[in-house]
Amino acid sequence: MLTWLAVVAIVLVGTGTWRGGRGGGGRGVLGELPPLQQPYNILVLMPISVRSHRNVIQPIAEALAERGHKVVTLTKEPTTTTSTSTSTSTTPQHHPKNLTEMVTHTSIHEADLNIFEVQQSPGRFLWQLGNNLTRLAGNVYNDSTVRELYMKRKEFDLIIVDAIFHEAFYPFLHEVPFILVSTVTGLHHQSAAVGNLHHPAYIPTVLWDFPRPWTLPNRLFNFGAHLLMPLIWSFLLKGGTQREISRQFPELPSLDEIERNRSLNFINNHPGLDLPLPLLPSEIPVAGIHLRPAKPLPKDLLGWVEGAGETGVLFVSLGSMVRGSHMHPHFRTLFVRVFRRLQQRVIWKFEKKVPELSENVMVRRWLPQQDVLGHPNVKAFLSHGGLLSLQEAVYHATPLVAIPICCDHTRVAAHIHNAGLGRWLAWDDLTEDLLLEAIHQVINNTRYTEEVQQASRRIQDQPQSAREVAVFWSEYVVRHRGAPHLRSPAANLSWIRFLLLDVLTVLALTVTFLLLVTVWVWRWFSHRTGKIKLE
Ligand SMILES: *[C@@H]1O[C@H](CO)[C@@H](O)[C@H](O)[C@H]1NC(C)=O
Ligand SMILES: *[C@@H]1O[C@H](CO)[C@@H](O)[C@H](O)[C@H]1NC(C)=O
Ligand SMILES: *[C@@H]1O[C@H](CO)[C@@H](O)[C@H](O)[C@H]1NC(C)=O
Ligand SMILES: *[C@@H]1O[C@H](CO)[C@@H](O)[C@H](O)[C@H]1NC(C)=O
Ligand SMILES: *[C@@H]1O[C@H](CO)[C@@H](O)[C@H](O)[C@H]1NC(C)=O
Repeated sequence: MLTWLAVVAIVLVGTGTWRGGRGGGGRGVLGELPPLQQPYNILVLMPISVRSHRNVIQPIAEALAERGHKVVTLTKEPTTTTSTSTSTSTTPQHHPKNLTEMVTHTSIHEADLNIFEVQQSPGRFLWQLGNNLTRLAGNVYNDSTVRELYMKRKEFDLIIVDAIFHEAFYPFLHEVPFILVSTVTGLHHQSAAVGNLHHPAYIPTVLWDFPRPWTLPNRLFNFGAHLLMPLIWSFLLKGGTQREISRQFPELPSLDEIERNRSLNFINNHPGLDLPLPLLPSEIPVAGIHLRPAKPLPKDLLGWVEGAGETGVLFVSLGSMVRGSHMHPHFRTLFVRVFRRLQQRVIWKFEKKVPELSENVMVRRWLPQQDVLGHPNVKAFLSHGGLLSLQEAVYHATPLVAIPICCDHTRVAAHIHNAGLGRWLAWDDLTEDLLLEAIHQVINNTRYTEEVQQASRRIQDQPQSAREVAVFWSEYVVRHRGAPHLRSPAANLSWIRFLLLDVLTVLALTVTFLLLVTVWVWRWFSHRTGKIKLE
């Protein structure tokens, strides 16, 4: 018996089957992806995506091109011109020849968007954005680049599209297999539409989260947010686009129906970086697809970082959307004063000349963020709580101080707090002493460094890289003609059936009926016994 077991074990280990793994694709032992059988035509739509979203989708397009597929992207900014831009995130200067970039200027331009103002009046922002999206839907098919691509859409084997604000481009997706890319973790209403209802008792919406464990008011708020967000999305952000698209494409099914027909959803989520989510077989996590080992810093930066000595460096960046001019002078001065009181050197991504800077501060319009974070002398990262910033900080094992501004920053900052990766501060509470104390704590207290180092090891400990996962599943969708077998039957249910409202109604009616019968029988019985007594 024992020999028999030993033989089986040796055979399993020898053939590598014991490692298991999806699609047989672990790195090293099981080898890389199998050789490409046939190049596919793949269209990647990201004409509205802001930079942080493009930073997730572009690596997917590039991985597919490197693999040998013919990839066309529709974007508002070709990657070849962005190397001099003000962003902190790195963009490749060149890319494989198999990738063609089509540029459209019919888009929503974020250049003059001040996200500090978005934080002040989110209602006005949403209203404006809805109007801008409606206007875009009205004239985007008059753009010759877009129209020509639209005419050729059936030549593509697969279309990949940003999951947020691209409804105007959904006519492309009708009757072509497509993949949605959720660059922020999955939006709960998009997920629910294909059968994965995020449980509001513990899963936050994309916008808000709280310290754990949640209190009753927290859960009440979260429940309300789960109900309210899809309504706001439908009426403010999608309604106008639907009207415009219906006018131009009267035969087309509704945008919601098209969206629900997706083959897959790539989700920028990873249990080591974010809340662990229950996912459907058609929801594939590709978190951290843009992460890469740090490259050596340019000479001047390297000199500055290494010249800081033992005390190290604080890296400060509020992300690609925040321009220096957007920051209120009050907070700018506060930052300047806090940095003056630090023993560390500071590298600050900021687009304006800052008055009264102390000697320990270097200001740059643009910085190679991953390379800076990857330098061991960079001890902490003062951030706005962008999701990609969190991922880069974790990957390069740098603890954070997060001050969320808008959008999903609060959720990310809450994760930083809950996972012990750093501190979470609010702009409204910000004082010199508080910020200084938080920076000191994150640098001095080894708890944060240890936590972030562990998290870093966790996200690098995966059977396949996110790029391999994205390539494998993209090809899988084409190989299996849209992979309809992955679709959850729940996607075909109406809300009433999905939430079992019909079943609950029948149960409620039955219980009511039984109660009525009981009461009636009891009354009848007591009436009779009463009568008997009287007699
Ligand atoms: C382009 O595709 C070919 C196969 O069609 C592949 O051999 C080549 O490596 C790809 N080029 C680049 C630069 O990735
Ligand atoms: C909408 O468009 C207007 C005018 O083009 C612009 O000023 C505004 O910043 C845009 N707002 C949003 C949220 O896109
Ligand atoms: C788009 O083009 C159509 C005709 O091709 C024209 O009727 C319509 O006015 C144009 N719309 C815009 C917003 O330019
Ligand atoms: C969904 O996809 C299938 C297969 O591509 C297609 O036949 C069907 O028309 C699509 N439905 C919608 C609403 O796009
Ligand atoms: C943290 O270390 C700095 C020196 O880097 C020191 O000035 C500060 O007092 C320390 N703060 C705490 C809370 O230990």
